[in-house]
Parts: sequence; structure tokens; C-alpha cells
Amino acid sequence: MSLQGNSSLCDVGFIGLGVMGKNLALNLADNGYAVACFDLDKLKVQDALAQDQQENPDGPARFVGCNSYTELLAKVKAPHTIILSVPAGEPVDHVCRHLIDAGIQADDIVVDTGNSLWTDSVAREHAYKGKFVFFSTAVSGGESGARFGPSLMPSGDPYAWTRIEPLWNAIAAKVEPSTGKPIENYAIGTPVTEGEPCTTYIGPIGAGHYVKMVHNGIEYADMQLICETYHMMRDVLGMSAKEVSEVFKTWNKGVLDSYLIQISAEVLAQEDPETGNALVDMILDKAGQKGTGLWTAVSALQVGSPAQTITQAVFARSLSAFKEERVKASTVLSGPDNLLGSVDKQTLIQQLHDALYCAKICAYAQGFQLMAIAGKEHGWQLDFAAIAKIWRAGCIIRAVFLQSITDAYEKNDSLDNLLLDPYFAEQIRKYQTNWRKAIAASTLAGVPTPALGSALNYYDSYRCAVLPANLLQGQRDFFGAHTYARIDQAENKKFHLLWGSDDRKQEKVRK
Ligand code: 6PG
Repeated sequence: MSLQGNSSLCDVGFIGLGVMGKNLALNLADNGYAVACFDLDKLKVQDALAQDQQENPDGPARFVGCNSYTELLAKVKAPHTIILSVPAGEPVDHVCRHLIDAGIQADDIVVDTGNSLWTDSVAREHAYKGKFVFFSTAVSGGESGARFGPSLMPSGDPYAWTRIEPLWNAIAAKVEPSTGKPIENYAIGTPVTEGEPCTTYIGPIGAGHYVKMVHNGIEYADMQLICETYHMMRDVLGMSAKEVSEVFKTWNKGVLDSYLIQISAEVLAQEDPETGNALVDMILDKAGQKGTGLWTAVSALQVGSPAQTITQAVFARSLSAFKEERVKASTVLSGPDNLLGSVDKQTLIQQLHDALYCAKICAYAQGFQLMAIAGKEHGWQLDFAAIAKIWRAGCIIRAVFLQSITDAYEKNDSLDNLLLDPYFAEQIRKYQTNWRKAIAASTLAGVPTPALGSALNYYDSYRCAVLPANLLQGQRDFFGAHTYARIDQAENKKFHLLWGSDDRKQEKVRK
């Protein structure tokens, strides 16, 4: 049965045949791995088997359906490699417990590919030690990525990685090494076999899912930034969805060339089959979220990393959910009274383009800064050039400018902030005037641009040598004796003033 060797057993076991699971399993099969499949829902197993047969009518069956965990282990060659694609949280532990009951061995590997919280992965490696090796791989790319090449962020036991690496190298998205451009082929049964695979060992358990969590935080920011430029074109310039779609198509040919701009153009061009209106105009403006953006924001707050554009993107989704209140408020609260005046359409569109580009650089800078700070805190040696490289194809935030981020970290792997890379510093120098004008226009028009604006504030704060935190420290010391450091003394020397009446105005050194 093994498509990789002579064994009558399968190469890997796969548990969880939902959208992501089934497509990852088919991708493995396309790459020559025989897969034993199991799902608590028997219909999903049947569906996967049927699809395998339909896609591969003349070849030998590449999938073997199993009815239980025990049967799954019996159908896979030892030491077992079992891949899970089940919902994050308790379902992962549910499967792990059943695999233990079914007789999984200490040198077997269980790979969690769900959108798990990174701390759960750390706890699981510990909890299942001695029973089997718990390994994790975060996957980005949605349904078509899973099927034709995702970006994979593996982490955990290095020995387990030596066994998983060939599989992931085979199924991952590929990029052309000299240009960094994705090599795409969406034809069934003909996987891309040349090029650099979009996977790399990220580090100890937890690191891979942390990096994927930040990927999603950046994804939230990127999506929100695009939405804000659409909002401006719609409400300030009165453009139709189709017109905005055309603008995005043009933007997708330049520095903003990315999967998210491409799909935004497609979403905006879609007609509603029911009414014939633009479908986007018929979609309720309440954003959903599954939690990875929230996790990124929480982590940023916990480690003290200023990721405000990512956090604003999460808040923007939260605020959108207050639909009924917003509708009420729109009739009660006033906005500006024609402060913007008349605007030149092409000028504002160009300003929005440049604003999106600059803000996007800031969102990525915040994501990489967060990974650097968290990496230090958790003792991970994160390789940022390698991380940027595996995001060049397959994942949701894939974009041409990830090659420039790769170049930046390849030139200087201890870069404090992406904004300090000479290329990106120059890009923002060049385009910031239009960024500022776009924010000014949105403020004057009363159209919210929380992510575009927060990115500009991040940029201006980061480049500000003297922030007003001196006053803030004074305030804290005044009411709470929290002490302050002085610019003319060593920073670790703390001072407290007896604020208030003249005779109490004596500065004291606090140890
Ligand atoms: C990916 C996506 C994927 C998923 C998000 C959506 O990289 O493939 O990020 O993980 O689509 O979880 O998250 P929200 O539902 O929170 O937008």
C-alpha cells in the first residue's frame, strides 16, 4: 500500500477530514503518500475516499478508510506518523487520549495542524511525553492552500522534525528561488515539485503556532487596512464596488501585489445572484472572528510590544458587531460639516494607495517586533528571514513585499525594527506625505480609519526621540510615589519628589 515503499501499510494516518484535513490528505496523496483516514463522522471518511477515487480513477487507491483509532494505527506503518486536523482546543486532547487507549507508542508522532493556541501545544508536549511525541505544525492558506500548497510552520521535538520534514517539503507551497515568486499550479494531481518549499523548522514546541498566531494578527491588520481604503473610496468618492474593484486590480500590479488585494478585488466585483446588486453591498457589515487576532493582541499587551495596528484591527471587528447601536448612533451623533470640501478623485485614490502601503509596512513591523520580543521571552531563536520566506507563498498574507522583508532580515538578522531597514525607511520617506494626507482627509470627512491612523501613530511614536512619557512619569510619581528616572542620572537610579507645598519639594533618591 505504501506509495513511498514496499510495505502493505499506509505511510501516514490522518484524523479529521473537514475542509482543511481532507485537502491536506489529498495533497499528501498527490505527493505519493498513502494515507489511512479516520473521522468521527463516517460520512467525511466516505467523502474523502470518493474524492480520492474521482481524482485518481486509474491509479491505485491512495486513501484507506478506517472505522476506529485502533484500525487507523493498525493500517499505518510503524513508527506511526499521525496527523490531526481537528478543531483547536478539547478535540485535540480527545483524539490524543483515544490514540493512547488504542495503543500508540512512545516513538510515534502526533502532529497537530489545527489553529491551536500556542500555550496548549506547549502543555500537550509535556502531558503526552513518554506516551507519544506531540509535534505541532501551524498551517496557513485556507482550503486551496491545503490542497495545492500551504505555508507550514512546524515546531517541537527536533527528531520528530527529521521524520516530518520530507512530508512537509513535499506538500508545502513553493517559490522560485531567484525571484521569490510563488510557483503556482492548481491542476489536480500535478503537485509542484521544484522550488523552495514554504516550510521551515520554527523552533521548540509552541514557537510555530505563536508565529502563525502573529501571521493571523498581521492578516487581521492587512484586511482591515484594505477595508478602510474601500470605505474611503465608497463614502468620500462615492465609488461603486465595481469601480473600487478596478482600483484594487491596478494596485495589485505594483508594490501592493498580494493575495488579499487580489481577493478583495474579486469580492468587490462579485454580483449578487439574487438581486443583481454588488454582492458586497448585500453583505451585513458585522465582522466575525475566531480568536487568533485577539490572541495576538493579548500577547502583544502581555509582552509589552506595541502592536497597535493589529490590535485596532481586532477592535474594528468588535465595533462592527455593534450594528444596531451604530445604526441608532448614526441618527443621533453628528459628524463634520463638509470640512473636507471638494477632492480630486485620482489624487485621493493615490493618497489611499500610499497610505495602505506605508501602514502595511508598519503592521508587518509590529508583527515582527512582537515575534522578536516574545521569542526573547520564551527563549526561541526565531529566524526572521526564514519566517518571511515561508510567507512568500501559500499563506493568506502572501505578498510580493515579503521578498523585501526577507532581504531586510537576510542583510541584518538582528534588525531592531523593520522600519529601520534602509529600503523600508526609504519607502516610507517617499510615500508618507500621501499617507498623512489620506488620514487628514478621513478625519475631515469623518470616515473612520482606525488601522491606517494607528499605523501612522505607531510610525510617528517610534521615530519620536522625546515622547510625553516624562509628564506621565511625573503624574505617576505625584499621585502614587511611583518614582521616575532622570535624564542626567543613570536610568536605574529612581527619584521621588515630595510634590505639593514648597517645604515638601525635596527630591529623594529611591532605591
Ligand atoms: C490562514 C487563516 C486561517 C483562518 C483564520 C480566519 O492562515 O489560513 O488565517 O487560519 O481563515 O483563522 O480567522 P477569523 O475567522 O478569525 O477571521
